[in-house]
Amino acid sequence: EFHVAPKNVHFSFDGPFGKFDNQQLQRGFQVYKEVCSACHALKHVAFRDLAALGYTEAEVKAIAAGFQVPGTDPNTGEETLRPGMATDYFPSPFANDVAARAANNNAIPPDLSLITKARHHGSAYVYSLLTGYQEQPAELLKEFPDAKTPAGLHYNPYFPNLNLAMAPPLAAGQIEYGDGTKASVDQMSKDVAAFLTWAAEPKLEKRKQTGWPVLGFLLFATILGYMSYRNIWADKK
Ligand code: HEM
Repeated sequence: EFHVAPKNVHFSFDGPFGKFDNQQLQRGFQVYKEVCSACHALKHVAFRDLAALGYTEAEVKAIAAGFQVPGTDPNTGEETLRPGMATDYFPSPFANDVAARAANNNAIPPDLSLITKARHHGSAYVYSLLTGYQEQPAELLKEFPDAKTPAGLHYNPYFPNLNLAMAPPLAAGQIEYGDGTKASVDQMSKDVAAFLTWAAEPKLEKRKQTGWPVLGFLLFATILGYMSYRNIWADKK
């Protein structure tokens, strides 16, 4: 078996007390904006949603204006591109699937809004995929000579097909983090995996925190039920 399970990586939002780290989410957004958005859309995330990461209204507007989104020209009625507004959603950089395939060795870069939900252990999967590019192992080629990575594809044991059309998108120092964090491949991969987890489930914290009052209520109801049982049967032998 050459396809391997995601790496064991720790995130701040793991576990029942997990919380997002807004500074990490902002770094992850920076990676998405400066690297991934060249190919991948986030069609379920609106620019204004970024306010949850701590960006001001003015910052959100500026970020939106930096993206070109499809729209109609008010004068001619023709379909055209216009600068984004806070209420728009992160667009695909490609006009359609044909253009997307043409630019990507016949593969379509998937929308990343829900990728951490669509894949098993999604947050760790994204991190592992981004840090997992490597040479094909000699044993693989010995056992399955036909599995040699075709030209234009890239070997990655975390991808179910083993060979994917996305070239390694990250290189050390490729971006300069606003908060001064060193932009290693590992760091950027972790940050963008965290950001995509937020994109897929912005209410994660709320979901986790709701569980505690629920458990408290259930415990209370159980004790109450037990006490009334004792009470009702107290004088029966
Ligand atoms: C596929 C993430 C940058 C092109 C994927 C997949 C993920 C991903 C999670 C899906 C794998 C799956 O289906 O399970 C990212 C992230 C990026 C990034 C987080 C930024 C750090 C890019 C860039 C390009 C690109 C810059 C284009 C130059 C593609 C293509 C696929 C893909 C074509 C489909 C691969 C296939 O099905 O063989 N990416 N990507 N990605 N990505 Fe990216």
